[in-house]
Amino acid sequence: LQFHPEFGAPKQNLYKIKDSLNGLDADIIVLPELASTGYYFEDRDELNELAEDVSDSPTLIGLTKLCQDNGFHLVTGFAERDGEKLYNSALVVGPSGLLHHYRKLHLFNTEKEYFDPGDTPLSTIDICGAKVGVMICFDWVFPEVARSLALLGADILCHPSNLVLTYCQQAMRTRSLENSVYTITANRIGKEKRPRGELTFTGQSQIVGPKGDVIKSSGADEEAVAICEIDVSAARKKRITENKDLFLDRRPEFY
Ligand code: ACM
Repeated sequence: LQFHPEFGAPKQNLYKIKDSLNGLDADIIVLPELASTGYYFEDRDELNELAEDVSDSPTLIGLTKLCQDNGFHLVTGFAERDGEKLYNSALVVGPSGLLHHYRKLHLFNTEKEYFDPGDTPLSTIDICGAKVGVMICFDWVFPEVARSLALLGADILCHPSNLVLTYCQQAMRTRSLENSVYTITANRIGKEKRPRGELTFTGQSQIVGPKGDVIKSSGADEEAVAICEIDVSAARKKRITENKDLFLDRRPEFY
């Protein structure tokens, strides 16, 4: 789902997400980074006001209900408070509630001033017969993240994003190809005019196949849901040519 979250309006954003997704037939739907709060926080105090604790989160309760009503799973960006800590997180939510939790490892630009760096080990989760890994936005520029998740067996990398640079969509085709995995980059659109300045987000969310092929992509400035069916077994074939295996032919002793 690609949309324009309103800054500081979690209830409104939850309604928007519900309106956009209710009734859809899907197994896994990926939402943008920080989908319920917006992105460009003024400072840590403002983030602290808007962040939620997963044990007591109206957003998580609302998303769980949405999953129950529709039988799907959501991967969503989430501003997380845990005691004194504040994380740029992603949650995997299903009909039974929270299933998986990732805190962004590589914070972008001003995020370092108000978020704490992520501390959750990279891991995968089984959903509807697929192994799913989660990374967030700027993690794309550190290929170790996608590689680590792929080496853990991920078939699909879900990638909630709030992209402001223009390189990522192209780079994620390479992350898919070099690991033979599906990648789903769910970006946001729109502008945020905030005390620190103005940001324009680049849209062009995409679903990419294990050969780096763009299966679906959305426009730079449209609200859109893109759905496709995938063959998970294609991501389990790691040979790029008959005798060249992406994983077995690595030479980690030299890296
Ligand atoms: C980003 O990591 N939101 C660019």
